This record gives sequence, C-alpha cells and structure tokens, in this order.
Amino acid sequence: MQNAWIAMVGCFILLTAACGQYDGGEVSHTSSASQTVDETEPSELGYGWDTKTEATAANGLHADYSISEIVTNPKVKARTDAKACVTCHSWAKNQDRVSFCNRVNAFLKMPTAKGTASDAPGAKPANLKKMLRDWKEEGCPE
Ligand code: HEC
Repeated sequence: MQNAWIAMVGCFILLTAACGQYDGGEVSHTSSASQTVDETEPSELGYGWDTKTEATAANGLHADYSISEIVTNPKVKARTDAKACVTCHSWAKNQDRVSFCNRVNAFLKMPTAKGTASDAPGAKPANLKKMLRDWKEEGCPE
C-alpha cells in the first residue's frame, strides 16, 4: 500500500516536470519560427529573395542576381558546372521566399563542393552556402 502511494507521488512529480518542459519548448519554438520569416525586419544584407546581390569575386557570381532568380530561373547558372537548380530539382521553379527559406538548412547540410570530379552529386558550392546561410540568419528578407 505504501509503495503504491510513493509510485503515485513520483508519477505526479514527473508529469509536472514534463509539462513544464513542454511549455517552455513550445514557446521558444514558436518565437524563433516567426523570426525566421519576418519580412518586416530590416536587412543589413543588401540582397534577398527579390533584391539582387552584387556580383563580386568573393561570391563568384558572374552577374547581379536575386535569390529567387538563382533558384527558380532555368537561365541563371550560379554554379561552376553551369547547371541551374531547376535542372536537378523539379521543386525549384515553384519556390517562393518562405518555402525556399525552409530548405536552406537542408542545403547547408549538403557536402561542400570542391569543384572536382569526386564531388558528391548533391554537393553545394561554398559561395552559395555562405550567401544562403547569411540570408537565413537575417530572417530570409525580401
Ligand atoms: C547537378 C544536380 C544538382 C544541381 C544543379 C543542384 N542540386 Fe541541389 N541537390 C542535388 C542532389 C543530388 C541533392 C541530394 C539529394 C536530394 O535531396 O535531392 C541535392 C540537395 C539539395 C537540397 C537539400 C534537399 C532538398 O531537397 O531540400 C537543397 C535545398 C538543394 N539541393 C538546393 C539546390 C539549389 C538552390 C540549387 C541551385 C543553386 C541546386 N540545389 C542545384 C543535385 C543538384
């Protein structure tokens, strides 16, 4: 009888602790998710989904492109192998700012291309990784 009581109190304490953790996790998740796609945040980047980035030696682009052009336009070739994103990804032409923002983490997890024949098929160029990582960190601005 005493054992059963102890078990019951133990369960109650565990339940309370779990509930507290769940609440906290949920609140911080919600606020960081809304930050990610908050278009009212001023951007320090100078480029975005519709704002063209200036082509420089550092970013390796041969013309000024916005991120939407790089991702959705079959004529824009931002990779050294001169292949457009839509050549390999059927989803690319249908992306908008928010949907592509949600793909950036997956993009950054791909291996970094070395520009050699031994690159994995999904390897991504370092210049684009940097560009997209900074864009995501700024909340994926327009
Ligand atoms: C030569 C083919 C090729 C090209 C061109 C290419 N990718 Fe990929 N990409 C892949 C492969 C292969 C993978 C890994 C398998 C997969 O998930 O489709 C991948 C994975 C991804 C992923 C993570 C998985 C997913 O589906 O979300 C993203 C995001 C991505 N690529 C974005 C891009 C963008 C943006 C461009 C243009 C700058 C691009 N890719 C150009 C082949 C390519």
